[in-house]
Amino acid sequence: MKKPVILTGDRPTGKLHLGHYVGSLKNRFILQEENKYNMFVFLADQQALTDHAKETEKIRESIGNVALDYLSVGLDPSKSTIFIQSQIPELAELTMYYMNLVSLARLERNPTVKTEIAQKGFGTSIPSGFLVYPISQAADITAFKANLVPVGNDQKPMIEQTREIVRSFNHTYQTDCLVEPEGIYPTSEGAGRLPGLDGNAKMSKSLGNGIYLSDDADTVRKKVMSMYTDPNHIKVEDPGQIEGNMVFHYLDIFGQEEDRAQIESMKEHYQRGGLGDVKTKRFLLDILERELSPIRERRLEYAKDMGEVFRMLEEGSQKARSVAAQTLSEVKSAMGINYF
Ligand code: TRP
Repeated sequence: MKKPVILTGDRPTGKLHLGHYVGSLKNRFILQEENKYNMFVFLADQQALTDHAKETEKIRESIGNVALDYLSVGLDPSKSTIFIQSQIPELAELTMYYMNLVSLARLERNPTVKTEIAQKGFGTSIPSGFLVYPISQAADITAFKANLVPVGNDQKPMIEQTREIVRSFNHTYQTDCLVEPEGIYPTSEGAGRLPGLDGNAKMSKSLGNGIYLSDDADTVRKKVMSMYTDPNHIKVEDPGQIEGNMVFHYLDIFGQEEDRAQIESMKEHYQRGGLGDVKTKRFLLDILERELSPIRERRLEYAKDMGEVFRMLEEGSQKARSVAAQTLSEVKSAMGINYF
């Protein structure tokens, strides 16, 4: 039997941080190791260009960085196909055909796109490529006949848009060549959105409140030591608050089974008074480093030979391209535009 296909991608607009790690990278590694799926992971550079058209240098640099992030968390090119979106021209061609099946009003209704438009301050100059990116995302997903697409909750509208396109295409051209994907969304609270070190709802590069997978041990230590705790917990003997205290929030997310008892007793002690922030932070640092130091070591190893990293991406892109070309040929036959 054919293995179900899983596809996920990231926009290469910076390095990946702990939020990406708990929200998706770690899970991709687990899915890869289950060996039950045909996994595709890709760098959505064309999507990044839809709102960074002039920042090609940044995207180019991020391709290398995110590829290193992938490899360092254990994504393995011999098990998963890792590729670059722009190197698969078939995706752009599929996008063209799908565009005719989606109304402008439908694109303008996409809640994630709406939020992004407001955030990015495009005003009346929304790049048309930006408005259309959910269609190009449908091309990414359908080109590989993905069954499962693990994404954050903000991507639900994209999955819904893709499903609509699949139904519309298959119905219009009387075919079953396209596959309707299912989204896989974060279940636990912790796996959803990781707040920033400063307590802001979101860890993000622009807020400067993140720990990056590429941060060295000293940087991670400094960042943990500056984390937002309870502003009213001034003296060690003061009773402290757990709610909204980022150190305890992170302990809940990153602590393993064997840490639970200690975390619970620390929470109790902290609330009672007599437990200082430095102690809770040191404990968190140990837990984070347990996870981060092997990632960091692997990264340093791969980073020694970026030529090799790009060769890996090239090979992955070639492999991905042959899959996308097969789907495109089925699409064109279904549409009757296979003239010769
Ligand atoms: N829009 C996704 C994000 O911002 C990235 C992406 C592009 C993607 N194409 C995709 C994710 C296809 C899953 C499947 O994170």
